[in-house]
Amino acid sequence: MKPKVYSTLPMPEHVERYLAKHCQIYKWESENPITRKDILQELKDIEGLFTAGLRINDELLDHAPQLKVVSNMSVGYNNFDLHAMRKRNIIGTHTPDVLNNTVADLTFGLILATARRISELDSFVKAGNWERTKDDEPFFGLDVHSSTLGIIGMGRIGEVIAKRAKFGFDMDVQYYNRNQKPDIEQKLDITYSDLDSLLATSDFIVLLTPLTDETYQLIGEREFKLMKKSAIFINVSRGKTVDEQALIQALQNKEIYAAGLDVFEQEPIQIDNPLLEMSNVVTIPHIGSATAQTRDAMAMRAAENLVAGLTGHGPINQVT
Ligand code: 8YV
Repeated sequence: MKPKVYSTLPMPEHVERYLAKHCQIYKWESENPITRKDILQELKDIEGLFTAGLRINDELLDHAPQLKVVSNMSVGYNNFDLHAMRKRNIIGTHTPDVLNNTVADLTFGLILATARRISELDSFVKAGNWERTKDDEPFFGLDVHSSTLGIIGMGRIGEVIAKRAKFGFDMDVQYYNRNQKPDIEQKLDITYSDLDSLLATSDFIVLLTPLTDETYQLIGEREFKLMKKSAIFINVSRGKTVDEQALIQALQNKEIYAAGLDVFEQEPIQIDNPLLEMSNVVTIPHIGSATAQTRDAMAMRAAENLVAGLTGHGPINQVT
């Protein structure tokens, strides 16, 4: 009998065909967006879960007595209560590597959009405000090439961002990470720095750490005060790695120049969030990996991990 799996996410057809060869697939059929309460009612006989962002904790596991594998269609797995899953021998997997370059592209999109004020001036022109003037100093931005990039969290995505910065933009690249990466330093000619020096000396600061108890609000008031007034802060990790109130303060007090944000403390962001009023803040809806090719690759990897886990073939991307 094929194992029963539940998908809380839409799936590309070819991935569903692959999964259906190995599993019985159940999914939410109703038009209404599925709620957590709905999901909990669906899991009684389910052995595998295909999801992303869904909190996997004791409450959910109590509703899923047959569950063996949870496959995240994301590289981040802060939605996993690892202790609760390990206690019940639940296999948890994620989808690294297949999205590195897509997230790196988006990161440079935010770096260029904030430094050269692209979305702000796009709105300015579209509002019909562009007139012939003596000089265009009011449109001036900051150079990206030849500046200093500070990467906080040097993993797979950090490495491809550093490569783009070095070889595409002649930037000096420094990084802070829990453990030093001499091989990457050598390969890309980048330097390790402690967090405070990186914050104080970088023109662009890119936050890339996973969200853990250790990195919760890693960047707060103290850290923003260390940054240059001309610094640009980019967050493509998770909203909660930053104290968002402190970020708002730092921008309102002009302690930093601008920010580019793909992630927020609350997603979707609330319409009354002051960040939405700031022309020097670029806000986008958590689209780091959002290209058809990459999401297809993530979905297939998540399906392969799920099948491997359910058939006892040891998934390649297990995190529990
Ligand atoms: C996901 C991401 O699309 O992979 C991650 O960790 O943040 C994105 O690629 C997002 O998590 C889906 O909820």
